Amino acid sequence: MKSFLEPFKIKAVEEIPITTREERELFIKEANYNTFSLRSEHITIDLLTDSGTTAMSSKQWAALMDGDESYAGSRNWFEFEAIVKEITGFKHIIPTHQGRAAERILFAVVGGEGKIIPNNTHFDTTRGNLEYTKAIAVDLPSKDGADPAVIADFKGNIDLEKLEKLIIEKGAENIPIGMLTITNNSGGGQPVSMENIRETKRILSKYNIPLYIDCCRFAENAYFIKKREKGYENKTIKEIAREMFSYADGATMSAKKDGLSNSGGFVATNNDEVAEQAKTVLIVTEGFITYGGLTRRDLAALAQGFREVLNENYLEYRIGQVKYLGDLLTQGGVPYLEPTGGHGVYLDAKRFAPHIDPEFFPGQSIAVEIYKEGGIRCCEIGSVMFGGYDDNGNFRPAAMELVRMAIPRRVYTKSHIEYIADSIINVYNRRDELKPMKITWQAPFLRHFTAKFDYK
Ligand code: F0G
Repeated sequence: MKSFLEPFKIKAVEEIPITTREERELFIKEANYNTFSLRSEHITIDLLTDSGTTAMSSKQWAALMDGDESYAGSRNWFEFEAIVKEITGFKHIIPTHQGRAAERILFAVVGGEGKIIPNNTHFDTTRGNLEYTKAIAVDLPSKDGADPAVIADFKGNIDLEKLEKLIIEKGAENIPIGMLTITNNSGGGQPVSMENIRETKRILSKYNIPLYIDCCRFAENAYFIKKREKGYENKTIKEIAREMFSYADGATMSAKKDGLSNSGGFVATNNDEVAEQAKTVLIVTEGFITYGGLTRRDLAALAQGFREVLNENYLEYRIGQVKYLGDLLTQGGVPYLEPTGGHGVYLDAKRFAPHIDPEFFPGQSIAVEIYKEGGIRCCEIGSVMFGGYDDNGNFRPAAMELVRMAIPRRVYTKSHIEYIADSIINVYNRRDELKPMKITWQAPFLRHFTAKFDYK
């Protein structure tokens, strides 16, 4: 098992709550067995998301203090715009307060009733924003990507054959853009190869369809390309990122991930007309074009974050830390989606708790038990999130039953990772005791955030 070094030392610490099992049993019951409903003060290690949970560097905190809060034309905006252009090469950069705002703005311009937008896998807010405009979101993951047990280098790839077939069947005129989500979050944080990006562009270009990249985790993807794809071993992360973006006509980003900050995002495009329309939507709904709903000091922290995320020592630690957790789980025999991706380990609930039918949410049962065991919060990505019943009352399970342990950037140390692995392995060793669950209340849309559960 390869070791890794945290390439930083700690300047400020934040106390984490330590609780007893009895307390946790009460807290999770009070939260109706939904990890989203827990209070953070009852959580020892929080692996709910890697989004907006990054520990900022001392340089980023210093940049915050030096923020220029001018409404228009702030110095921090120009710093932000310059670094995003340097990395992506796009002509127009439009700042937003987070990723889904970028999606809403882009789809207000290019979405709409009956439009079809393919992607390797749409993240749930991307799908939600598209469907809100009555467009149709189509997922075309590669065959490898749909099987948690298959080990392959680029499980985030889009299925190119299916992409071309979709265009021919539905008509290019109905497909305003094609998308790639990099890395593919819903598919396990798995990377997309340069070849796949290049080929996606080639196919879309044949039909005059622009390519937009959902680039939340572009630096993690670039690192995988460097390590796994021939011809990129000696390139810098910035050079690889630049090439990835060179095949695209625009992007949306939640900078809460690889912007190494707690808030922020952008829409980018080379199309003047799309940019003009997007800026109008931005001004009406987010804020002026030089701050997009952010405080200007946030833009300063983001500009510094974009510089730091390109650092290969950082990325080696980042990807190495996630892999370290995976390796410890392998030693304990715990099944997870292999190989580990960029931002977390996704437990394979179907193999972890095969005695629980997907209809009774094995992933939810595991997530609840991991909280009871170690005060660790994670979330189900399976039939709670994507399953349901058809019009005839038949259960329709999700494609995979996963439990995501998302690792915040630069927050937890090696001993925290070992504690997480020990807790998961303890739960795995008494997996026969895991009980089926049922939903006792749910919202009509995106139910996983607020649903209430109980044991069946
Ligand atoms: N696209 C991807 C691939 C994402 O992972 C996310 C957020 C978004 C878009 C939306 O960005 O949250 O800034 O509005 N993912 C978070 C997660 C929430 O936990 O995976 P946002």
